[in-house]
Amino acid sequence: MTSGALVDEPLVLGIETSCDETGIGVVRGHTLLADAVASSVEEHARFGGVVPEVASRAHLEAMVPTIERACQESGIKLHDVDAIAVTSGPGLAGALLVGVAAAKALALGLDKPIYGVNHLASHVAVDQLQHGPLPEPCVAMLVSGGHSSLLKVTDITVGVDPMGATIDDAAGEAFDKVARLLGLGFPGGPVIDRTATSGSSIAIDFPRGLTNRRDLERHRFDFSFSGLKTAVARWIEAKERSGEPVPVADVAASFQEAVVDVLVRKALDAASSEGIEDIIIGGGVAANSRLRVLAEERATKLGIRVRVPRPGLCTDNGAMVAALGSEMVARGRTPSALDLPADSSQPVTSVLV
Ligand code: KG4
Ligand code: ZN
Repeated sequence: MTSGALVDEPLVLGIETSCDETGIGVVRGHTLLADAVASSVEEHARFGGVVPEVASRAHLEAMVPTIERACQESGIKLHDVDAIAVTSGPGLAGALLVGVAAAKALALGLDKPIYGVNHLASHVAVDQLQHGPLPEPCVAMLVSGGHSSLLKVTDITVGVDPMGATIDDAAGEAFDKVARLLGLGFPGGPVIDRTATSGSSIAIDFPRGLTNRRDLERHRFDFSFSGLKTAVARWIEAKERSGEPVPVADVAASFQEAVVDVLVRKALDAASSEGIEDIIIGGGVAANSRLRVLAEERATKLGIRVRVPRPGLCTDNGAMVAALGSEMVARGRTPSALDLPADSSQPVTSVLV
């Protein structure tokens, strides 16, 4: 195909390597054909967080086998694709470089256009693989290990307007740190989610960051989770000092409620303030079962629709990159240059490099 041509149902291969998942996705239009993911999460577990060098090495080793798996799953041949899409940022510099280099090699070897796309915008675009065309405008809430932001999306292929973001820890980071305090392992989100099911969400009244009237004046759509994390640490310390057992499930459930309560409140407020009736939630924390239930419950009361992709599409994967790439092709966006950079701090306003 020629660069920038409009293709209704483009066949796109997407490559994601911004963190610890090597994801290769194949998408035709809004249809998911393959979603192959190789994770190095277990190699990082003993360090309690992702080690960039370990992640880069794992991407190198996983790249070719994962591409092969995606081709097998989808039944396509590489030269069938209309375009290659790749996460150009934000993320870990070395990890991104592996994906970008692989994408360039494919684009050059197959003589196909390449689209270097924003990881965060991909977390939004992936929803169309499950729920159909994106409602635009919409408010997107992205909650992952590295980011917590509220965005206004008018055209996902052109740019997004940041409405608010975390001023300290990301939501997923808070889950990971609190899981560590509770000795629950890494990554913290899934294990806190599971542990919370046997605890009480109202057992402990943990603080809701940036929700009092004074904070709302300056930070209406911003988040803060570092005070909450400290409050949990102090609460656990006090229990331990008094020689009482720490009620792990209650702490997990009450902490989770504090995070989720603020996320949902602010997302709904952002949508209402713009007169927008659709919210998309994406990123690893969107896999949280309580977040999904509470968002749906409160949104319904306000006549707002909430779309959250299934958990496997919320965490990092290649299908999300392919989904955004497919939209780039379908809407006739100009492909990236073959010397596109990997930009570890690519701003969310830059959707395509
Ligand atoms: O989007 P993602 O896979 O990678 C980043 O771009 O960061 O998000 C990973 C984050 C981790 O912090 C993990 O603890 C969190 O998402 N997470 C969850 C759940 N599943 C993953 N947090 C809360 N509940 C979950 N079920
Ligand atoms: Zn992510």
